[in-house]
Amino acid sequence: MHNDTIGTVMITQEEINAKAAEIGARITEDYKGKSIVLVGILRGAVMWMADIMRNTELDMCIDFMACSSYGAATKSSGIVKINKDLDTDIEGKDVIIVEDIVDSGVTLNYLMGYFESRGAASVKICALLDKPTGRRVDINVDYVGFTVDDRFIVGYGLDYDQKYRNLPYITWLESN
Ligand code: IMP
Ligand code: MG
Repeated sequence: MHNDTIGTVMITQEEINAKAAEIGARITEDYKGKSIVLVGILRGAVMWMADIMRNTELDMCIDFMACSSYGAATKSSGIVKINKDLDTDIEGKDVIIVEDIVDSGVTLNYLMGYFESRGAASVKICALLDKPTGRRVDINVDYVGFTVDDRFIVGYGLDYDQKYRNLPYITWLESN
């Protein structure tokens, strides 16, 4: 039985759209003349992935992976499990991982190593949100949409127990 409620709008759809246009333009510039592989991390990154795709003017392939380190809890367990692997051969490719939020950094730290072991030419990270207060592993996030404080964020792909992913804006969970 849920007793959770959500806060007011923290980041609007318009702000996210503007940020996606800005980051898409940066990626387009940074990888000029190259083709890239965008890897979206299911399920939280779906909305942000679509935004980055439509704002990046490069030859690209897209793929998705699913990992879990969370379950239904709001604190990371520190263990990363691959639930859906890549379908694309990324050897020699320039990869950008598209994530919803970087919290402890455990998931992305693991994925960076995984992609490098698969022979990627380069691996960068594009995250909608960064929550630096949660960091347990030192990790460089190349493209960040917004930095958020130490709250449990939902909406725009991010869930609490699989709910709220469809909200077209970013808000937070007010637990009670
Ligand atoms: P990390 O490995 O601790 O960086 O966690 C990464 C994953 O945890 C993200 O991809 C999210 O799925 C989830 N996560 C971390 N913080 C939040 C949050 O505030 N709201 C919803 N999901 C979160
Ligand atoms: Mg996630």
